[in-house]
Amino acid sequence: MIKKKFGIIGKPLSHSLSPDLHNFWFKKYKISAHYSLIEVELNEIESIIKKIRNNELQGINVTVPYKQAVIPFLDLVAGDAKETLSVNTVSLNEEGKVVGNNTDVYGLEQGFINKLSNQNLKQNKVLILGAGGVCSSVIYALSKKGIKQIFISNRTIKKAENIKKKFSFIEIVKWDKTEAIANDVDIIINATSLGLENKSDFHQEFKETKPSLVYYDIIYNPEETMMIKKFKKKKIQTYNGLDMFIYQGKKSFFIWNKIDPEFNQKLKYNIIAKLK
Ligand code: ATR
Repeated sequence: MIKKKFGIIGKPLSHSLSPDLHNFWFKKYKISAHYSLIEVELNEIESIIKKIRNNELQGINVTVPYKQAVIPFLDLVAGDAKETLSVNTVSLNEEGKVVGNNTDVYGLEQGFINKLSNQNLKQNKVLILGAGGVCSSVIYALSKKGIKQIFISNRTIKKAENIKKKFSFIEIVKWDKTEAIANDVDIIINATSLGLENKSDFHQEFKETKPSLVYYDIIYNPEETMMIKKFKKKKIQTYNGLDMFIYQGKKSFFIWNKIDPEFNQKLKYNIIAKLK
């Protein structure tokens, strides 16, 4: 039996735990396959997609900074990738077409948004920090729930303006004005890389936020960012990005293998152990 090949493309990739996740499931479901890190430059994306078309590679995930850059090389963009123009999963369909999908939206819904109380959710005000690769998935997942008051703040305002071209209902907040708006919102989502292991952190203090605030950090490495620690001390509800990460992987695994893999505590502990 030939061993199937999967992987994740991006740069840098050293932080990715996707190989641990998918190789755990390949073993569990006795699938002869291996998932690896494929660090590539922008000009190598085309040849990677060719490998999928030729069935030399059976599927890839795409991460920063290529979630949009990969699109011109695909035959089709499907599912939530159509609305977000952000592709994180590529596969070959039965007609031999290379298809780009987005499983980040599903990851966010299952890993975070569906855990929130539905009471007044539509009226919630949300502040998204960051306008990078995952931002359009966050906005789309929130808007699917009927949330319309979305503020976005990014160090480089141009990137926020680009996102507003796609989602005109969002409001842009200047990076040096985030504290004031943070005090007024119900949910803050960190979609920046601030707080990642070995990276710099927020200069904002977020001291006067509502006691009912929910803070969500897409980061899961470290398990608790400095912001999560700070908010936890104040008894503010916090979530990290680990469940989102596992759910987006679960949907990618299904797209490639037509098996919906189990997400249980053992798997979660295994992943957490890798973070340490
Ligand atoms: P990309 O922006 O290349 O898609 P990303 O990892 O998806 O990469 O996003 C990184 C996010 O973290 C961006 O919103 C970035 O802000 P800029 O657009 O201004 O670069 C944000 N970020 C990273 N380092 C930061 C810092 N030191 N201060 C503020 N924001 C930072």
